[in-house]
Amino acid sequence: MKILVINGPNLNLLGKREPDIYGCRTFEDFFQEMKTQFPQIELEYFQSNHEGALLDKLHEAGFVADGIVLNAGAFTHTSIALADAVGAITAPVIEVHISNVHQREAFRHHSYLSAKCVGSIVGLGLEGYRLAVSYFLRKNG
Ligand code: DQA
Repeated sequence: MKILVINGPNLNLLGKREPDIYGCRTFEDFFQEMKTQFPQIELEYFQSNHEGALLDKLHEAGFVADGIVLNAGAFTHTSIALADAVGAITAPVIEVHISNVHQREAFRHHSYLSAKCVGSIVGLGLEGYRLAVSYFLRKNG
């Protein structure tokens, strides 16, 4: 089983970026832990600050992966192109946000992606990624 985790802009700064909102842990550290926790899954991680690179990755993995966990960062609230890509691919996508976007600024309340995703997990910190992977495992495993 292949699952791809995609993080969008500024999420490479996890651990340093606004730790009161996003926590103190780097994503690389968390991802290593997830890999040990799910040895039966081929887990891949991709991060980019560039919308086009995120689109290319969705196109590349979107017809072969069994599931995609996507935190598109701020592109969530702006990108019709990413929403179209999620709608175009066959792999199911779960949207994850570390923070509870609904408790934050109004511009974070709308997601172009949600309607194209099988579900969304918001506000549960990095735990949201683990829950999304567990969901795919239960569904397909
Ligand atoms: C985020 C929420 C977005 O609004 C923000 O732009 C991010 C991170 C989250 O994980 O909470 O970059 O996606």
